[in-house]
Amino acid sequence: MTTLTVTTATASEISADAIIVPILAPAEKGGEVNVLGIADLNPVAAALQAKSSSEALTRFPAPAGFAAPVVLGVGVGEKDLAEVSPEDLRAAVGAAVRSLAGFARVALAFGELSDTAQSALAEGALLGAYDYTAVRGKEADLTAPVAELVLQGVSEAVARQAEVVAEAVAFARDLVNTPPNLLFPASFAERAREAAKGLPIEVTVLDEKQLVEGGYGGIVGVGQGSSRPPRLVKLSYNPAGAEKHVSIVGKGITFDTGGISLKPGAKMDEMTMDMAGAGSTLATVVAAAKLGLPVRVTGFLALAENMPGGKAQRPGDVVTMRNGKTVEVLNTDAEGRMVMADALVDAAAEKPDFLMDVATLTGAAVLALGNRYAAVMGDESARERVMSAAHESGEYFWPLPFPKELRASINGRLADLSNIGQREGGAMVAGVFLQEFVDGCEWAHLDIAGPAFTGSAHGYMAKGGTGFSVRTMLEVVRSFA
Ligand code: BES
Ligand code: MN
Ligand code: ZN
Repeated sequence: MTTLTVTTATASEISADAIIVPILAPAEKGGEVNVLGIADLNPVAAALQAKSSSEALTRFPAPAGFAAPVVLGVGVGEKDLAEVSPEDLRAAVGAAVRSLAGFARVALAFGELSDTAQSALAEGALLGAYDYTAVRGKEADLTAPVAELVLQGVSEAVARQAEVVAEAVAFARDLVNTPPNLLFPASFAERAREAAKGLPIEVTVLDEKQLVEGGYGGIVGVGQGSSRPPRLVKLSYNPAGAEKHVSIVGKGITFDTGGISLKPGAKMDEMTMDMAGAGSTLATVVAAAKLGLPVRVTGFLALAENMPGGKAQRPGDVVTMRNGKTVEVLNTDAEGRMVMADALVDAAAEKPDFLMDVATLTGAAVLALGNRYAAVMGDESARERVMSAAHESGEYFWPLPFPKELRASINGRLADLSNIGQREGGAMVAGVFLQEFVDGCEWAHLDIAGPAFTGSAHGYMAKGGTGFSVRTMLEVVRSFA
């Protein structure tokens, strides 16, 4: 992981391969942009037609007397840094750091900043210094992400917090980016054990035999078409003195072909990301333990590979879930809710103060909110807690309702429930299905199908897994401290 140090040196003194500074909008209409803190560069910026719009990048040779050879200006879209929202600052800084892949040591000089802005600067820089390089060939070092960051005007405490958050996001991204031949239920469970090593987290793993014996019909049914059997991982972080208990359930479909209800071929490769919820869950529990948050946190990873093998479940199969409810599997591609339901039953049985589930659950959530916003559903107070945590962390969530009429659409013909309902409002239908398994707990459902993965790099995001929801869920846990 990228190293992060802080400095009180001036921009000219900092030794680095490049130094990033903000470019502010002209003070008055028709005026010239302002390279903050390096007035000498203002005429050059004007001549180069440098832009101050958010994330616009301009490279300059450093003025005489600078220790660093290169200055990178990044537009922040405002005349004044104080006007820039923390998330826009993360994105601008992240885009700048991302564009310097190949540079080893990069400094950021943004002048004096509020605590919130310091933390956005540190997080944006670290998040922008991420790329998944594990399976790259020999060209890797030409485009390696920035290895060392030096931040001016950021406190040591803020830097260390940002490091834990960014490390958690990077871990979730790594899991999503690991190709599906290399990440499968058993290997995912192993990664969870490794990640918990040396931390006060207890890990238990149920294998396929224990899942059958325990009556986890949803997970067993989804997993049975694959030669690589399912797992249910439970992570318990229970610090002495904790008064509140937060449980998180994550969808961990390590690859979703759709099963016998096979998906079309186009972009099927992206279904490597269908374990993003479990990835975020693992990363969040690990981060809570690293930060020593005084809250009990339990994570469940519902892991299976949805494949159309000879033993795969058929459309029309009826399975009995962990809580005894029966479900008709009318579409084997609606597998997420099946594995989530079983894990939710176990989570709810412990009567946590707050139950949250996170899943790349429906294409309908993407149609409703696009690729940058995740949906949050469930109890009103739970939704509001997630919304305010999202606001704190800078991630974009938006609430969806549970209209009453949807419930009837998931009645089974033979069984208690059907795993699909009406097409209209599909994200909410899936939520209404999950509600049957939460046993009245205070509960929020997070559908991250849109933002969990990005086909194009932007802001602090590299192509691929985004680690989306880790920051918000960590903030939800914090809200109980
Ligand atoms: N993993 C998919 C949902 C998904 C779609 C995630 C696009 C990310 C991007 C999920 O298992 C699925 O296939 N859902 C179906 C449900 C339908 C059969 C009711 C869907 O959304 O089409
Ligand atoms: Mn599916
Ligand atoms: Zn899926």
